[in-house]
Order: sequence, then structure tokens, then C-alpha cells
Amino acid sequence: MKKFKIVVKTFAGLESVLANELRALGAESVTAERRAVSFTGDKAMLYKANFLLRTALKVLMPIAQFRVNKKEDLYDHAKNIPWAEYLTLGKTFAIESTVQSELFVNSMYASLKVKDAIADYFRESTGKRPSVNPEDPDMVVHIYLMGDYCEVSLDSSGESLHKRGYRMGQGEAPVNEVLAAGMIMLAGWNGQSDFLDPMCGSGTLLIEAAMIARGIPAGIYRKSFGFEKWLDFDQELFSEIYNADYEKESAVRIFGSDISVQSCAIARANIKNAGLSKYVEVETKDFLELDPPFENGIIVTNPPYGERLKLRSVTDLYKAVGDVLKHKYSGYSAWIISSSEDGFKNIGLKPSRKIELFNGAIPCSFRCFELFSGTYKQKAILRKANQDPDQNIEVAREI
Ligand SMILES: C[S@@+](CC[C@H](N)C(=O)[O-])C[C@H]1O[C@@H](n2cnc3c(N)ncnc32)[C@H](O)[C@@H]1O
Repeated sequence: MKKFKIVVKTFAGLESVLANELRALGAESVTAERRAVSFTGDKAMLYKANFLLRTALKVLMPIAQFRVNKKEDLYDHAKNIPWAEYLTLGKTFAIESTVQSELFVNSMYASLKVKDAIADYFRESTGKRPSVNPEDPDMVVHIYLMGDYCEVSLDSSGESLHKRGYRMGQGEAPVNEVLAAGMIMLAGWNGQSDFLDPMCGSGTLLIEAAMIARGIPAGIYRKSFGFEKWLDFDQELFSEIYNADYEKESAVRIFGSDISVQSCAIARANIKNAGLSKYVEVETKDFLELDPPFENGIIVTNPPYGERLKLRSVTDLYKAVGDVLKHKYSGYSAWIISSSEDGFKNIGLKPSRKIELFNGAIPCSFRCFELFSGTYKQKAILRKANQDPDQNIEVAREI
């Protein structure tokens, strides 16, 4: 099968996990870029990337690259693209642009120029043009114009891949599905230990964890992908990929709790919709009163950041969470994402890792707290005994 360049978009901070996912799929020439990873692959890889990648937002297929030194260059080069290979008169299209250029102060104008180029390309050869449909297009053309460099791509995903298709409802500030999967993967969890989210809200982290543990494809609940409307869509190839055997048995426990009765109801509805009720438990409980559901495991959680709470209550909450972690959760690793530096200070534990991420537009830190048991002295001896020269994990303060 013919190979070509494919670009997968993701969130800032998730490029490395996305690159790992791609390598695991067998992608070649995997290169991490800013909020994207590019690779070389064939049509099967394009379909697999859409169906299987957990940290992908969009999978783009570049069809032209050129320089734009003056305004007219965009229209002229765009009109030279052999559009008839991708579009017919009966199909509709839409244009999305990411533009940072002195020549085009707004992306709408760049979109308009490319739309005109496509319309004129067809009008000149057939007298007619395909229609634009911004709501539900058959084909989305993506323009990336950075300085004088322009890349025109076809969007093979359609709706953003974070729209997995399992969400029935959302509670207070749900985390994006792609970010949730990325956090779990950055934490290095792939189903090898029990998993807890004690502030689970609508259950996104629990569902993504269950899908990872059981090998359930990220796109299994989606109704469609953009490439299914492409002229060269290979139904047989996609059916083969869709119906392959991905799922695996898993004995790990996945447990979520939340102080809000309503959030727990939403989480249960989402979990049920994903067909995962058998594998994920949810209990309404204040984390400060929860008894650890297992002896040790991993906590990945997204507590309130305090945007809507008074500063005082955030510091109190994080301090109480830190105390509970210290006293009840020895043996666990706890990964917490938050934008609240004050909150982190009040946890009173030293993180072993800090990763910068964005939750939507909010800059956040994703921190790991290793909750060892024993005294600091014992832990220092233990560390020494391990004789690991790369051991740079800082032990939690006193427990
Ligand atoms: C930012 S939301 C979590 C969103 C979740 N990750 C999702 O994707 O829907 C924070 C959650 O913490 C819960 N919460 C706040 N204080 C809590 C406490 N003391 N114990 C348990 N849950 C708490 C809230 O009810 C809310 O659902």
C-alpha cells in the first residue's frame, strides 16, 4: 500500500505519549512536533490512528506544502492542488484554518481564499462547484499557515477524536477524554495495578482507565470517522481493522468516588453507556472519609482547582487531601492535576515528578506523590540499598 505523511494533533504535553502509541502501532519515522506528531504510514495506518489512538485529537493527511510570500500565492497554489482526486461535485466541504501570518490577519480570510480556489478549480473544468457545508461536511480541508509556510491537509477524523461517543452527561468541569487518557499514560499506568479516582466527577478517568486495562479501542463507540466519506474509502480494510481482536482480560479493580451524588449518577450513566459497569465501581463518598478500596495502587485525580471556590477552601481541601494521602494511602502513587500552586503547597508532600499540561486553556501541573510507608530514615536506607544510580525519585515527606 502507498505510504504518505500523516500528522496527528494532540494537546501540549502529550506529544511523547502519542509518539509512543504510534510506535506501538508500527508507525515509521515518528517525529514529535508542537502539539502534534507526524509519521509515515499507509491507508491502514490512517484508519488505525483514528480508531485506536487514545491521545489523538485529529488525524490529518497533508496533500500540499508551499510557500506564501504574497497574498495571491495562497489562492494560486491551492488552485493547483488536484482536488478532483479528493472531492466530487456531489460532495460538500468545509475549511478550517490555523493561521499565523503577516499577510493574513485573520484565519477566515485564508479559509475564504482556499474555498474560492476549490470552487474555481471545479468551475473551470465542469462549470459547477461542490457546495460548502460548515455543519456536516463530507470533507474538511485543513490549512496550516505559519509565517510563509503553508500545509494543506485533509482531516480524516471528522469530529474531534476526544468525542469518543460514551459521554451521556457531564458534571462539574469534566476533563477532556484525550487529556484523561494522556494523564493515565504519562503516569505510566497500563492496567498493571488497581486504579482509584476519588474525585471522579463524570467518570472520564475511570472510563479511559478501564478502556486501557481491557484494550478497548478508543474509537469503538464512535458513530463515524471523516475518512468514511472519502472517495477512496476502503470499507473492507476498515472492517478488518474494526473487527480485529483488541480486547484482553484484566483483573485490576477500577474504583471511583465523589462527594456529589449527582456526579456519581452521571459517572454511572457514562460507565454504563460505555458497557463498563461490570469493571468500574462508583461510590458516593467524601474522599476525606473514604477507606482505601485496595491495599495499594494508583490514584489519578482531578480535584477542584478553586476557580469557583474561595482560596481558603481550596487550601483547606488540598491540605486535608495531603493528610489523608499520608495517613491512609501508603503504598499508593498519587497523581494529581491542578492549576492551584497554593493547593499543591498545602498538600505537604514532595512530588517525585511534575509535568506541565493544559486543562483546556488553564495551565496546570500534573504531579506524582509516592506514598511510601515507614520513616524518612528507613526510606533513605531503602533507597541506598536499591543502589540505583538513576534513582532520582524524591520520597514523600514524613508519613
Ligand atoms: C474537576 S471535577 C472532576 C471532573 C472529572 N475528572 C470528570 O472528568 O468529570 C472535581 C470533582 O471533585 C469532587 N469533589 C470535591 N471535593 C470532594 C471531596 N472532598 N471528596 C470527593 N470528591 C470531591 C467534585 O464533586 C467534582 O466532581
